Amino acid sequence: MTELARVLFGREDIRRRVDELGRTITGDYVGREPVLISVLKGGTVFLADLMRQIQLPLETHLMAVSPYGASEESMGRVRILLDIDIDLTGRDVLLVEDIVDTGLTLSYLLSILRSRRPASLELCTLLDRSIRRIVPLRPRYVGFDCPDSFVVGYGLDFEERYRNLADILEISDTTALKADPDALLSHLVPAG
Ligand code: IMP
Ligand code: MG
Repeated sequence: MTELARVLFGREDIRRRVDELGRTITGDYVGREPVLISVLKGGTVFLADLMRQIQLPLETHLMAVSPYGASEESMGRVRILLDIDIDLTGRDVLLVEDIVDTGLTLSYLLSILRSRRPASLELCTLLDRSIRRIVPLRPRYVGFDCPDSFVVGYGLDFEERYRNLADILEISDTTALKADPDALLSHLVPAG
């Protein structure tokens, strides 16, 4: 086990929390048919587990967005690379995200979705790094509060890798990981 990373949220903690969120959402949306929308690519692992814990009829759809600029300085204006192909008018929309950080991208995305006149629009995020928030934004459903350090696994990537880690790891030194991108391969222990 390397010093570079430590398990922040293990697979069992994640499973338990996702089960709880699913039960809560089931209770909150009873009698309705929510539309779960997730954002590629990070949110899809969470979506896959969460949707199977919601005991209601539901739809899932995917979107892909890209920031206009290469950095946060793009001020959260996003370009939609892949849009959903359903009418959201009057629907109960639940946006499912991996992590809310500055909230810049997400607040823009929420404003786009809101303009499509859903009956309701809520946000469910596995991780909430509220300390970094720039745009005021409070998710309705949160899996875990996330410390102000880089995390990978369970959908979250480091330069497109490690989304397939079953645990969520906290990276203490991203420069060292950049220098040795294989450093976390020993953590790729299959879930199950
Ligand atoms: P923001 O809330 O607009 O700043 O952007 C959040 C997006 O940045 C998330 O959907 C992730 O894709 C990515 N992101 C933020 N923090 C991390 C991290 O610690 N690890 C991996 N991806 C992250
Ligand atoms: Mg990412």
